[in-house]
Amino acid sequence: MKTLANFHFHDMQPALDDFRTAVIAGLSEQRKCLSPKFFYDERGSQLFDAITEVPEYYPTRTEIALLHRYKDEMAEMLGRDGLLIELGSGSDVKIRVLLDALLPRAYAPIDISRAHLHMSAGAIANDHPKLAVHAVCADYSKPFALPDFDTAWHRAAFFPGSSIGNFDPPQAREFLGRVASLLGPDGRLLIGVDLKKNPTCLHAAYNDRQGITAEFNLNLLTRINRELGGDFEIGAFHHDARYNAELGRVEMHIVATSSQRVRIDGNHYEFLAGESIHTENSYKFSVEEFQALAAQSGLCSLQVWQDDAAQFSVHCLGVNNQ
Ligand code: AVJ
Repeated sequence: MKTLANFHFHDMQPALDDFRTAVIAGLSEQRKCLSPKFFYDERGSQLFDAITEVPEYYPTRTEIALLHRYKDEMAEMLGRDGLLIELGSGSDVKIRVLLDALLPRAYAPIDISRAHLHMSAGAIANDHPKLAVHAVCADYSKPFALPDFDTAWHRAAFFPGSSIGNFDPPQAREFLGRVASLLGPDGRLLIGVDLKKNPTCLHAAYNDRQGITAEFNLNLLTRINRELGGDFEIGAFHHDARYNAELGRVEMHIVATSSQRVRIDGNHYEFLAGESIHTENSYKFSVEEFQALAAQSGLCSLQVWQDDAAQFSVHCLGVNNQ
């Protein structure tokens, strides 16, 4: 690719050997678990993009429709001509809608998937020659620093996809608090939040008939085999996703079909038949529940948009100025 004068790439965290440490720790727990952030290797990012196209998975297309419908109002509330930070910049469809309405001075996408980030941010820089693009490779679930931007610039952040639902409520509060301090006084956050709804509809969205979500979930085992020298027999495990109404979240698990012993780089892990690795939570909120959570982190609700069927919401939050 040609060099672009308006494209800058910043590695803000050292090449993480995070995956090995997390796998050893997660599989050693009484109830085995792994963080959903590890889904997004190259294949995982592709599979996620494919999920967003299956008919049952409503969040992506509903959020995109909301952005198209309300982009001018959203841009007005966010404030134009400042720095736009994007947290977890998966696919670039959403940000392109917002960028065209917002016309920021600089755009800083933050993502854990280095190659994916490089490509999509580079493409945006190429298509917007007057926009300064500062891609930041970092894991936003942990504290991280931004490159030095002009502190006089107004700051807005975009956190689409209801990825906030991957955090437990205490983690979500901590994360939103960190975003609030990153944004500073008068900062604004535009955040996509999936709404509570009929469990049948939620079940379908995480158990698509083409089996793409299952493949996405099981790809985690393929990644462990490849990157950490594991010997998971993928066919001996299956995908499970169900709505836990009590906790208001969809839970994804990888379930051992029969008893298994798995070796990963010298260590071994036992699975009983039916035992699982808990790989993701996806919390669902009512509008009021989410507003209350945000308020506990110093972010006040300025506006909320939702589709006619009340499937998905996009909130504009403002940093409380003490
Ligand atoms: C975009 C990470 C929030 O939980 O809906 C999709 C990921 N997992 N299907 C979600 C996902 C299974 C997605 N997040």
